[in-house]
Order: sequence, then structure tokens, then C-alpha cells
Amino acid sequence: MALTATPITPRFGAELSGLDISKPLDPADFAAILDAMNQWGVCVFRKTGLDNASHIAFSRHFGHLETAPLVKNRPRRHPDHAEIFDASNLTPAGEILVDQNMVLHKKGDRLWHTDSSFMDLRSAYSLLLAYEVPKEGGLTYFADMRSAYEDLPTDIRAKVDHMEAEHSLWYSRMLAGFPITEEEIDGRPKARQPMSIRQDATGRKAIYIGSHAVDVVGLPRSEGQELIRYLIAFATQPQYIFGVSYEPGDLVIWDNLATMHRGGDFDIFNERRDMRRTTVREGAAPDQADDPFTAYFSASTPTN
Ligand SMILES: [Fe+2]
Repeated sequence: MALTATPITPRFGAELSGLDISKPLDPADFAAILDAMNQWGVCVFRKTGLDNASHIAFSRHFGHLETAPLVKNRPRRHPDHAEIFDASNLTPAGEILVDQNMVLHKKGDRLWHTDSSFMDLRSAYSLLLAYEVPKEGGLTYFADMRSAYEDLPTDIRAKVDHMEAEHSLWYSRMLAGFPITEEEIDGRPKARQPMSIRQDATGRKAIYIGSHAVDVVGLPRSEGQELIRYLIAFATQPQYIFGVSYEPGDLVIWDNLATMHRGGDFDIFNERRDMRRTTVREGAAPDQADDPFTAYFSASTPTN
């Protein structure tokens, strides 16, 4: 059966059906999925039947998978699958998380962002699989950064075409209320990224920005942050966004180089939400083995 794409909005987002992605895929079927990703930016597969192992196996079609960071004193929830990033509100033991700092840390994911923009080595695709979902809320919202780029006022687009921004995970955490100062953020690693990225497959350009962006290179911090806030607000106008709600087994794939996303609210202290993500490095060979996230976090270990 051939792949069918049903658009979610006229230009952005599609539900895909007709392929069983829990089984080995032939190259033509994967090529059709990649074409759909290039066209739609975000694609949703419902009721996939995926588990950790088959989630990873399917994700490997897209390229090299990132290794989730080992953070000091925090065991992995999925120790046998280092490629699984835990996006749940659960502890490694499977209890609902109550640690205030971890709660605030995760709250940063509610802000518009692109995954891993704070890393020098960017992530292209994220593949998020639902295991347990809250009764209400807990959607993921997506913003179409290619259409937003195309609609930008000419003078702003010229800036976005030529300027760079510095990104820090810790800036988005600070915005979400995590206890950290600007001085501490400035003492931790940042990544310099272009403010727009051209997609080779389509020739379309996208704004590359988000809540990890702390500075625009060459502008005073306040002026840079004003531009960053303007771009995020512009790109998240209603005509550029939609939300995905989940049932267990649903998988959403997004292109971080063409979209932003944010997690939606839900009752985090009473409802379980178990979501697991694989993340595909931009332009890296599938067998490239390294672990820059753990290095990033160890360079960012708070001293207080
Ligand atoms: Fe994210």
C-alpha cells in the first residue's frame, strides 16, 4: 500500500498512512516519507505499534541518531537504549516527577524552540513517540518557519538572511523560571547559528530561531532579544501553527530546521505523560559515534 499524506493545514503538517513503519522499510517507501517531510515539515503516523527498539530502527533511516545525555546523579529511564531521549514527566523509577528544579527545567520545553539549537552540531529530525498521554492537554504545537520566512517584512528578512544568533539551553530554562542568572548562562557553552537555513531539497528558506536564542551576534543584548522575540511572535501567528494531540502509539516527526515547536500544558503533578524521542543529527553519517550532549551538560554543571 502506498503512502498517503493528508494535510493538517494547507501548507504545513500532514498525517501519513498506508505504511507499517514498525517493520523493515524498503528504500522507495522511506524515500516517500522523506519527500513528505520535505513538503510538510511535520508528519504524524497514528497507531504505529512502535517500541523503543523499532522506534530507533525506523529513526535510523533518517541518519545518525544522537545519544541522550548522561546527566550526573540522574540515571537514564531507558538504559538499554541510549538513543531514547526521555520527554516524560516521570522519574527513572516511573513515578510522576516532583523535583522542583527538574519540573522547572522541563517547563522550558513549553516555550517555542527547535531541538538542540544550543549545540554546534544541529539536529535535523526529531521523532516523538507517545506511550502514556494525559486525559487533557499535553499537545505539541508546531510553527511553520518556512512560510513565516517567506512572509517576513523585507527589512527583517534581510537581517535574518545575514545575521547569526547565539543559543543556550540555559537561557530558555531561565525564561521558564529555572534558577539561573545571566552571568551563569554566559559562563556556559553557547552555539552560534545562522538565523535562517536553506533547505536543499526544496530550496525554501526557514527562520532558525527559538527560545534558546539569547543574543543576536553584533547587536546589544536588549536589541538582539527584541529581534528574537519579534521573530518568534511573527512565526507563531495563528496561520503558521497547529497542535498535535496523541494517543499511545502515535509518532510525530518534525524537521527542526524548518519548524519550531512547544509542549502544551497539562496537569503535570497528577497526570502521567510518557513521550520518548529520537533525534537525528543534521548531515551526519548513520554510524558516527559521539556524545556531544553529555559533554555539553558536564560543561554546564551548576557549581551552586
Ligand atoms: Fe523540543
